[in-house]
Amino acid sequence: GRVLLLYSGGLDTSVMLKWIQEEYGAEVVALTVDLGQPGEDFEVVRGKALQFGAVEALLIDARERFAYEYVLPAIKANALYGGGYPLFTALGRPLIASIAVEQARAHGCDAIAHGCTGKGNDQVRIESTVLALAPDLKIVAPVRSWQMGREEEIRYAREHGIPVKGGSEAPPYSIDDNLWGRSSEGGRIEDLTEPTPDDAITLVTDPRKAPDEPQDLVVEFERGCPVALDGERLGLVELLQRATEIGARHGVGIVDHIEDRVVGLKVRDLYEVPAAAILLCAHRELEKLVSTGLQNRLKPVLEEQWSWLVYAGLWYEPLLADLNAYMDSVNEQVTGSVTVRLYKGSVRPVARSSPNALYDPALATFGESGGLFSQHAAPGFIELFTLQSRMAHRLRSEAARA
Ligand code: ARG
Ligand code: SIN
Repeated sequence: GRVLLLYSGGLDTSVMLKWIQEEYGAEVVALTVDLGQPGEDFEVVRGKALQFGAVEALLIDARERFAYEYVLPAIKANALYGGGYPLFTALGRPLIASIAVEQARAHGCDAIAHGCTGKGNDQVRIESTVLALAPDLKIVAPVRSWQMGREEEIRYAREHGIPVKGGSEAPPYSIDDNLWGRSSEGGRIEDLTEPTPDDAITLVTDPRKAPDEPQDLVVEFERGCPVALDGERLGLVELLQRATEIGARHGVGIVDHIEDRVVGLKVRDLYEVPAAAILLCAHRELEKLVSTGLQNRLKPVLEEQWSWLVYAGLWYEPLLADLNAYMDSVNEQVTGSVTVRLYKGSVRPVARSSPNALYDPALATFGESGGLFSQHAAPGFIELFTLQSRMAHRLRSEAARA
């Protein structure tokens, strides 16, 4: 048969490419998906796939779809799993897997192979998507089934003409990245007592070396979607790239995170998420301004649910669609702009403007408000507003004394 392999060009998937041909006598169609991995040369990746025996090496540019169909809903949901992880990998996997299904059909493959381990979240996300969209396709996960350790894998690679970078240049961490962020895991990061290893931070400038002058950046939104930076209108892909560059320069978006994986493990991740740090900060701020207090109290609860579903790979769970409907509804009003100040690793809102702001300076002022807000009504409001609390407090105090 024919196997569609999700191919990154790294050691694991290169070894898989050979191993599938040998082990199953199958033809391999290699698929690489461009989600805006910074600095990746996809033609080199394609060339390697063909060199290692793939019958075809497909490259799909999915940056637009990723930005508008995956990152945008995450922005509307202010999505941060565990309070710190903007979910870039979790958002990318269902898209990669759905493209794998499309391409497997188009190229006559009866199986999809991926390079995830049996200990992680990514296997769950990829396989849940394949199972939802194409339950007839077989799933092959060689890293879970082969008994190769690292040494053996390197030996296998050498024997099969797959170049292995020498000891010192070998990447010491497991990396994943796209338009919405970059993660590093493994190696020295696994020692929790060791402060964020400097060599794992390669996208974002060390805040200590960031410019001494702060930069104010105006982020403009239309119905929850970021549409311009400092007055320049940009498509979302370009806007995410630009926000990444600007934030990275100012040392913004380094997150050292302890995380609960779907499969029960607790792990440490280092994230570099400058675009998310800027855009989520600005979005949250604008949304708070145009929503009512009641909406502002409910939404974080739903955001937490949204983040968990996406983290856990439940992209096709109806609850996620239900939650998206709510997020879209709230975001109908999220139009306007927020200025954020970037300075040596920090980002904070410093100015806002929106036609939908539920804010009236004439009402809010400490100065003379000219009868628009009746302060005479306040004592009566307080009396009624606190009625039940005061009654309960009195009863409990009496009972305690009796
Ligand atoms: N912990 C993050 C997540 O579960 C990042 C995973 C990175 N994946 C990888 N194959 N390196 O989404
Ligand atoms: C893996 O284990 O394959 C990568 C990490 C993850 O999926 O969480």
